[in-house]
Amino acid sequence: MTFLHKYPKAAKVAKANFIVAFIALAIGGLFGFIQALHRTDVFRGFFNSGEYYTLLTGHGVLLALIFTTFFIAGLFIWGVTRSLDREPENMTFTWSWFWLMVIGLVMTAFTILGGLVPDSSIRAAVLYTFYPPLQAHPAFYIGLALVIVASWMAGADWFWSYNKWRDNHPNDRIPILTFMALFTMLMWYVCTIGVAIEVVGLLIPWSLGLVTEIEPLLPRTLFWYFGHAVVYFWLLPAYYVWYAILPKLSGGRLFSDSMTRIVFIIFLILSTPVGYHHQYADPGISVGFKFYAMATTLLLLLPSLMTLFTVVASMEHGARQRGGKGYLKWIGKLPWDSPAFVGCALAGIMFAAGGFSGMINASMNINLLIHNTIWVPGHFHLTVGTAVALTFMAISYWLIPQLTGRKLKFKTLALIQPYAWFLGMTLMSNAMHRAGLSGVPRRTAEPQYSGFEFEPIFGTMGEMKWQIAIGGTILTISLILFLWVIIASWMGGEKSDMPVDDYIPEPLSGVEHTPAILDNIKLWLALAIILVLLAYSFPLWEMVADGVFSPGALPR
Ligand code: HEM
Ligand code: CU
Repeated sequence: MTFLHKYPKAAKVAKANFIVAFIALAIGGLFGFIQALHRTDVFRGFFNSGEYYTLLTGHGVLLALIFTTFFIAGLFIWGVTRSLDREPENMTFTWSWFWLMVIGLVMTAFTILGGLVPDSSIRAAVLYTFYPPLQAHPAFYIGLALVIVASWMAGADWFWSYNKWRDNHPNDRIPILTFMALFTMLMWYVCTIGVAIEVVGLLIPWSLGLVTEIEPLLPRTLFWYFGHAVVYFWLLPAYYVWYAILPKLSGGRLFSDSMTRIVFIIFLILSTPVGYHHQYADPGISVGFKFYAMATTLLLLLPSLMTLFTVVASMEHGARQRGGKGYLKWIGKLPWDSPAFVGCALAGIMFAAGGFSGMINASMNINLLIHNTIWVPGHFHLTVGTAVALTFMAISYWLIPQLTGRKLKFKTLALIQPYAWFLGMTLMSNAMHRAGLSGVPRRTAEPQYSGFEFEPIFGTMGEMKWQIAIGGTILTISLILFLWVIIASWMGGEKSDMPVDDYIPEPLSGVEHTPAILDNIKLWLALAIILVLLAYSFPLWEMVADGVFSPGALPR
């Protein structure tokens, strides 16, 4: 029996979440394709340069905020239900957060797309960071607020299941799939407080005209209080897949249970007090706080390096189980013909490259070299755009059959898809990084630099622009392949009781070696809150001491 037959109610909500996620991915991806052609001047016929910012807002919101959130909800429903062996406690509650999230999304998307209707007063070309003084229609902010509240309810749903499970299992360790989901959600609660205060307390009253002034720095600071942790909200579910499922797909077992828990705890503690590393160039924040943020950011490399070690060790174990030998020859014994495995593995490789460019971003002084250049999109298309997005796509090849009770169709296309994404992203991201080093700005419809005509000479602007355009096109083809395989399998795949092998073996170093303190949720949450207070209370006080809505100098 597969997930669908054991937990039909949970399967239904998970599927609903995945459908919304895939629709957002399709529309957002299409916008990305148009942007890549437009801003490189390769083809500008779809929209004009004014509309570019509407598309860019749609791309950022639909992919970075909507696709991720809905996919993560589906993934966690699967993991929590399965590992606690119980359906959600109350289906009315579960469906109500799902629908609230959909209503919020529709409001937000509607205001953004309003920008494509000539003379419409409903607009939200404010990009997914919505910094004031750019202003959107109030429905944009209200929709976002609803999505956040609904995501809190989703987290509450999983804590509810956990508490009920705990009543019957007073002495058991938290199952690892639930542990990872709960710690991700704890981090989400800590960080979304910032953006919730920003949206509800400042932006909604201002967009409704209830207050007329807005201070640019305070909303930005509250946004980035949330904005770095949100990248871990995307990334931890990818780690979830790499820790819990990838070892099995490689033919082996997770290397260590306690290492996995420690990594998630470090992320809970350190993800939020680092937001100033997005504000190195902002005036009005003392350099000492920026330095503190840099130090904590660099500390965050540690759990990612631990992940690298644990995941590669698990894969090596898998390869050796399959007969792999030698120092590196075992790599050839990994299942390079399994789409789910290949997607996760390639996503992990790209993440390593993204980590390197991330170190440059995080360093206070070198950051100035690449700040607001197209280097930055080059960086995060490796992280959220590949490590996360490609992992989510790849694991869909393994999850969707469990949720629909149907086998995957078109395995060859499914196998080509992650390789194509890898190739497309290598071209696009590499060229974006290099163009950024040459000073090409991000977030612009205009190329800005001469020499953008076709010049197939290596190292010229023309060469970089063509790499971006060709890379973006290959990515779009890869996306179409993904959607095609999923839709075809969902609608017409062969029905089966066991469409994939969904057994997950125990870790090599199991929970019996895991210190009990790691499961102490309250302790780790308290530590996280203390570090946030240390990082944020003084600077926020400085910003609001002269009035919440008005910009101006501090009375000194
Ligand atoms: C920005 C292309 C997939 C997230 C951009 C930009 C391009 C682009 C050219 C830069 C625009 C500019 O700064 O002027 C593409 C293509 C994709 C793709 C061709 C694949 C078909 C993704 C995915 C994600 C993503 C999967 C995340 C899950 C973003 C974000 C921005 C961005 C957050 C920044 C928006 C902003 O600056 O406000 N994309 N992208 N993209 N992309 Fe993508
Ligand atoms: Cu960050």
